[in-house]
Amino acid sequence: MKAQTLLQAASFLPIIAMFMFATSHAQNETPALKEVFKKAFHVGAALNREQISRTEANTIKLVEKQFNSITAENIMKWERIHSEPERYDFAPVDSFVAFGEKNKMFIVGHTLIWHNQTPRWVFEDGAGKPADRETLLQRMKDHIFTVMGRYKGRIHGWDVINEAVEDDGSLRQSKYLQIAGEDYLQKAFEWARAADPQAELYYNDYNMWHKGKRETIIRLVRELQAKGVRVDGIGMQGHWGLDYPPLDELEESILAYAELGVKVMITEMDVNVLPDPGGHTGAEITRNYALRKELDPYTEGVPEAVQAKQAKQYGDFFRVLYNHRDKITRVTFWGVHDGVSWHNNWPVAGRTAHSLLFDRNLQPKPAFDAVIQTVRGD
Ligand code: G3I
Repeated sequence: MKAQTLLQAASFLPIIAMFMFATSHAQNETPALKEVFKKAFHVGAALNREQISRTEANTIKLVEKQFNSITAENIMKWERIHSEPERYDFAPVDSFVAFGEKNKMFIVGHTLIWHNQTPRWVFEDGAGKPADRETLLQRMKDHIFTVMGRYKGRIHGWDVINEAVEDDGSLRQSKYLQIAGEDYLQKAFEWARAADPQAELYYNDYNMWHKGKRETIIRLVRELQAKGVRVDGIGMQGHWGLDYPPLDELEESILAYAELGVKVMITEMDVNVLPDPGGHTGAEITRNYALRKELDPYTEGVPEAVQAKQAKQYGDFFRVLYNHRDKITRVTFWGVHDGVSWHNNWPVAGRTAHSLLFDRNLQPKPAFDAVIQTVRGD
C-alpha cells in the first residue's frame, strides 16, 4: 500500500518538475528594469507605508528584482515625520533606509519643504495667528537639520523644495512664500547643503514641461547659482497621460534643465488612463471630484486598445529619456503596481487606476514590454 502510494506520487514528479520549470522560466524571462537600464539611469519606485513595513512580501520581491532606487511616497512628508514641534516619527523611515541599504539602492528623501501635508503649527504662533518670518525660518532650519542629519550619508538625494511654482510661472502663494518671502527657497537649499554636504539636492515639481513653469524654474536656479547656492538636480515629476506631454515639449524641457549644468530626473512617473473630469494635467493635490460611473470605466480591466495606447505612450516617453541618458540620472515610478497607485484616489476617490507598469497581480503589462523594447537593439 505504502509502495503504491509512493509510486503514484512519483508519477506526478515529472509534471511537478515541468510546472516548476515553467514557473521559474517565466520568472527568469521577465527582464529587470534595473538591469536593462543599468548603463543609462537608475530606475526607481515609490514605496508606501505597508510595503516599507514589509507586509506585502510579493511586492517587496518585485521591488528587489526590478528597481535600484526607492523613494518614500508619504512617510517623510512633514506631517508624518514631524507631526508636532517636539515629535519626530523616524521608525518607518529607518526601515525604509535599511531596506534600501540592504539592496544597495539609491535612496531618495521626499520631501523637505512642500506647501502640502505640512501641519498647521509650522505656520502659526501657538495662538492660531500666523507665525512671523523668523519663527518659520527657524522651524524650517530645525526640520531640515534634524531629518537630514539623522540620515546623513545614507539618503543619497533629497527633494528639498517640492512644487513651489504654478503652471503659469508665478510663485505658488504658499504659506512659506507669504510668511517668509521668496528667499525661503535659497535658505532651504543652503541649510540642506550644510546638513549633508554629500547629498544631492533637488527642485521637484509637476508639469515641468509647461513653458511658463520651466522659465521660472530656470530663472530661480540661475539666481541661486549666481549666489553660489548649488542645486544638483531637477526632478520632473512625470505624472503624465495618454495625450500629454507632447514629446517635443518634454524633450525641450530636458535639454533646457540640463543646460543649467544639473542632473535631470523623472521622479514620479505614471501614465493615467482614466478620464480627468477637469481636463487638467499635472498633480494639483487639492483637486477633488465626486465618483461617477463614467469616470471609472475600467473596474473590470483595461480594454486592449487602451492598454496598447498606454504602452505606446510609455514607449515614446522612454525613447526620449533613453536618448537623453547622458543627462538623465534616474526614472522613478510613483508606486509599484496599479493597486497602490495614488490615481486610485485622486482626483476622484475610489476609482480603479491602471497607471503603472505592473498590474494588481504584479504582472508586467504591455507598457512594461514597451519600456523594455526602447533599449533592445541598442
Ligand atoms: O494613511 C491614511 C489612512 O490611515 C487614512 O485612513 C486615509 C483616509 O483618508 O488616509 C491615508 O493617508 C492618505 C495617504 O495618501 C496614504 O494613502 C492621505 O489621506 C492622502 O492625502 C495621501 O495622498 C498622498 C498625496 O501625495 C498627498 O500627500 C499620495 O499617497 C501620494 O502619492 C501623493 O504624492 C504626491 C507627491 O508627494 C508630490 N507630487 C505629487 C504626488 C501625487 O499627488
